[in-house]
Order: sequence, then structure tokens, then C-alpha cells
Amino acid sequence: VQPLRIALAGLGTVGAGVIRLLDTNASLIAARAGRPIEVVAVCARDRSKDRGVDLSRYIWEDDMTALAARDDVDVVVELVGGSDGSALTLARRALGNGRGLVTANKAMMAHHGMELAAAAEEARVALKFEAAVAGGIPVIKGLREGAAANAVLRIYGILNGTCNYILSTMEDTGRDFGDVLKEAQALGYAEADPTFDIEGVDAAHKLALLASIAFDSRVDFSAMEVEGISRIRAADIAQAAALGYVIRLIGLADCDGGLFQRVQPCLVPRDHPLASVDGPTNAVVLEGNFCGRLLFQGAGAGDGPTASAVVADLIDIARGDAGPPFSMPVAALQPLERAGSGHRLAR
Ligand code: NDP
Ligand code: HSE
Repeated sequence: VQPLRIALAGLGTVGAGVIRLLDTNASLIAARAGRPIEVVAVCARDRSKDRGVDLSRYIWEDDMTALAARDDVDVVVELVGGSDGSALTLARRALGNGRGLVTANKAMMAHHGMELAAAAEEARVALKFEAAVAGGIPVIKGLREGAAANAVLRIYGILNGTCNYILSTMEDTGRDFGDVLKEAQALGYAEADPTFDIEGVDAAHKLALLASIAFDSRVDFSAMEVEGISRIRAADIAQAAALGYVIRLIGLADCDGGLFQRVQPCLVPRDHPLASVDGPTNAVVLEGNFCGRLLFQGAGAGDGPTASAVVADLIDIARGDAGPPFSMPVAALQPLERAGSGHRLAR
């Protein structure tokens, strides 16, 4: 049997997690995928760094883009990050050279997802990004496959583990914002630039991808309204609690009278399912016209859960799934008008 041969760019929190997962579960992955998934080559910035995994079996490429040109590689896995720069160059080269691409990079997909999807469709290779939205929760699969027969009415939820960790820890312990943010960084939840987390940009990247799949529309990050949690103080959380609410950073998209996409801190009643979502957990609610309300909940960040989503994409590719990256081919996705200012916020 021909293995699925992969090249791994980025060996940080997620990249090292992928190596660990492929090693630990190799035989069950091979059985379910129908063939082994083999790492051929890897790349990161610092070759001497101890990453807690055995890299001696793999070819080390100093130049990341060289991974995309290797004849012995079927799929490039991009786990570097950043919307532009070397991750984007690598992604373009991989697809241009007819290699599949798996990425956890929501910033790149929110800004360049349409271009990359069109390139994948033209090359007839897979582009998959389950790990880019809500870490270990199969929400893209749930939306794109599980709810494929539904008209989606709206989709909303908690899409950033760092913010949820900060808000729920401040709520439980009364600790200071900056102190808890440092802890989230040390635990590997935060982006390289944590401003993207606390200002709501990371959640907005994810919401833009979900909105595209939910509403068969082109990804439109420019239509996003974003407010983060950096101005929330312990006193705000205490005041909300006194009134029977918790504060959560919520992303919501619907297309009732135009595309509405907003990320903002919200007061959530204590008895609402999203109010009990604590720590780096994410939760996404999807409302379809036939499936009704579906709730996806689980670890939204961290090495193990995110690696789990990356490797699930690889298993799909090994099984031969190369459907369109979004809900339908890029040429069929519509640009949606932005909702007017009179848009009524969801119940
Ligand atoms: P890290 O910062 O931990 O890892 C990034 C890796 O990329 C490092 O190994 C780094 O090398 C390498 N790298 C950076 N620049 C270059 C370059 N120019 N050339 C070669 N290698 C480079 O990030 P994460 O693992 O946390 O995140 C990776 C991606 O996954 C991002 O897109 C992120 O948004 C996404 N993601 C992360 C989640 C998480 O929980 N952490 C969850 C879901 C998605 P070196 O180690 O040598 O410095
Ligand atoms: N920084 C992101 C978060 C990682 O905290 O949710 C997962 O996408």
C-alpha cells in the first residue's frame, strides 16, 4: 500500500503535537485511513530546539518552501501561522505544485482562503483546514458535511480559547487580566501575537470561515465587526455576576437581510448553555432548517486537540476525499451584501 507522504512546516505547539499523535496512534490511523501516514520532511526556524519529539527519522529542510517542491511529498501541512509571509508562500507553492494542503492557519484562510481554494480546485488536490476553527472540535466537518442538507439560519458561539480562559478564570478567581493572559500564553493557547486573541481578531477569522461555509458565500473578512475583551475589568465581571450573567466573547453570523458577522463581549444569562463553557473550551451553536439546533463543544486550543483535527484532515485525504474546500466550488460561492444598520440582533 502506498503511504500518504507528508511534509510538516512548523514544529511548535501544534506541529509537535501532530508528530506525537502520528507516533502514538500510528496503527489505528493507518487502519482507518486505509494506508499509513508518513512524515517525510520537516521544517522550523531553530533546528537545535528540543521539541520533546524524535525528529531524527525525518529530512530537515532549512528552507520552508522547499517542502512544497519535494517529489516524495503528497501533502504539505502548514503549522507556522501568519496571514501572509512564509506560510502563504508555502501554501501557494504547495497547491501550485499539485500537493495537497492541510493548515490550522485561520488568519491565512480568512484573508486568502478564496484564492487558495481556487488553486486547490484547479490542481484537483485537497485543501483542508478543520484545525483552523475551534481546535479539536469538528465544526467544519459538522457544518460542511453533517448539516450539508440544511439552510443554515445562523451560527454563533465561543471561538477563542484564550479569551474564554481569561474571562472564566477571572470570574472564578478574581485574578488580574494580564496575569491570566500570561498563563494562557504559557499553556500554548494564545497566538504568536496575543493581540489577535484579546482584540477578537482570531475569533473573527474563524467566524468568517464558518459564515462562508454556512451561507455558501465568499469569505468576507472586511464585513466583520470586531470588539475584543481587553477593556473588560474584574469589576465588570463582578457586576455581570450580580445581575445573573457571565461575560463571554461571542461571534455570531447570520444572513437575514444581508451578511451579518460580529464578534463582541456579550452578557450571557447564567442558565444559557454558553455560560457554563469554561477554560480554553469553545462552543459553537448551529441552527439549520431541518437539523434544528446543534451544539458543538470541546477544546478549542492546545497541542493535542488541534493535532487531532489536523490528523483527521490527513485521514480524509488518505481515504481519497478531495471535495471543494468550502461548501461548494469557489466559482459558485456568492458575494453577500453586508446587513444594513437596522439589522436585528438574534434572540
Ligand atoms: P507556534 O508559535 O508554537 O509554532 C510555530 C512554528 O512555526 C514553530 O515551530 C516555528 O519555528 C515555526 N516557524 C515560524 N516561522 C518560521 C519560518 N519563517 N520558517 C520556518 N519555520 C517557522 O504556533 P502554534 O503551533 O501554536 O500555531 C501554529 C498554527 O496553528 C497557527 O496558524 C495557529 O493560529 C494555529 N492554531 C494554533 C492553535 C493552538 O492551540 N496553539 C489552535 C488552532 C490553530 P521554531 O519553533 O523554530 O521557532
Ligand atoms: N489562539 C487561539 C485560541 C488558538 O485561543 O483560541 C486556537 O485557534
